[in-house]
Amino acid sequence: MSHLFKTYKSGLHALKDINLQIERGEIFALLGPNGAGKTTLINIICGIVNPTSGRVLADGQDIVRNYRAARSKIGLVPQELSTDAFESVINTVQFSRGLFGKRPNRPYLEQVLKDLSLYDKKDSSIISLSGGMKRRVLIAKALAHEPDMLFLDEPTAGVDVELRRDMWKLVRSLRERGVTIILTTHYIEEAEQMADRIGVINHGEIILIEHKSVLMKKLGRKQLKLKLGAPLASIPEGLPEDLELAAGGHELICILDSSE
Ligand SMILES: Nc1ncnc2c1ncn2[C@@H]1O[C@H](COP(=O)(O)OP(=O)(O)O)[C@@H](O)[C@H]1O
Ligand SMILES: [Mg+2]
Repeated sequence: MSHLFKTYKSGLHALKDINLQIERGEIFALLGPNGAGKTTLINIICGIVNPTSGRVLADGQDIVRNYRAARSKIGLVPQELSTDAFESVINTVQFSRGLFGKRPNRPYLEQVLKDLSLYDKKDSSIISLSGGMKRRVLIAKALAHEPDMLFLDEPTAGVDVELRRDMWKLVRSLRERGVTIILTTHYIEEAEQMADRIGVINHGEIILIEHKSVLMKKLGRKQLKLKLGAPLASIPEGLPEDLELAAGGHELICILDSSE
């Protein structure tokens, strides 16, 4: 995508000149705090929100001009739970596949449900499922039409440990099949666990894009910062040497671990 801007009607500049190239087959994590613009960016790529200006190509297809062609390559797992139908799980994923004009493929869909530990629930109505199970259905829906790119918007925010583990396993197996994965998170641990590359977004701007190993090295310096009631002019005698004073003597910094 190039020179992507989004200004909401309220006047809020949610995205400011985003330029990003995601490689085929990689896992890319968009890391940033709440309100940074992650969902806005994903929703633009997936054709849910219109950009104010700029261009996005998905596998060579312009997401505005060639919407249908671009969208058929994309699977989206939205941040918000919105599936609350009386329909059964299997019908829901079959319908989703049909929307993209794909021929029915029951064995494929059943495998997706098995991978998501949803197979036992395939005939249950969605409304009867727990929150975690509904989230699994959203993932199955996103995969129903065999997309080449999968977008996961805060996939593990508020989910249980088991689902988180299944999700990571699934993401890795999709990657092995060549699916490109873009996920957003505000957990640095998650970006570290899953991604090949990490883009850091804040206030609508990408402030850093790095391969994970490089970024983790940069962030690898763990330190403990102590706020002092009364400022110190120097490190008192007898304390270890790896201490630093900062903020004019108001902070004492202790380096716990350095990966350099
Ligand atoms: N439909 C909307 N109308 C106006 N402002 C919005 C809308 N959606 C999001 N925003 C604002 O845009 C900014 C980015 O939001 P969002 O993309 O949801 O961030 P993130 O997903 O990183 O938490 C926030 O300040 C949010 O309040
Ligand atoms: Mg969001």
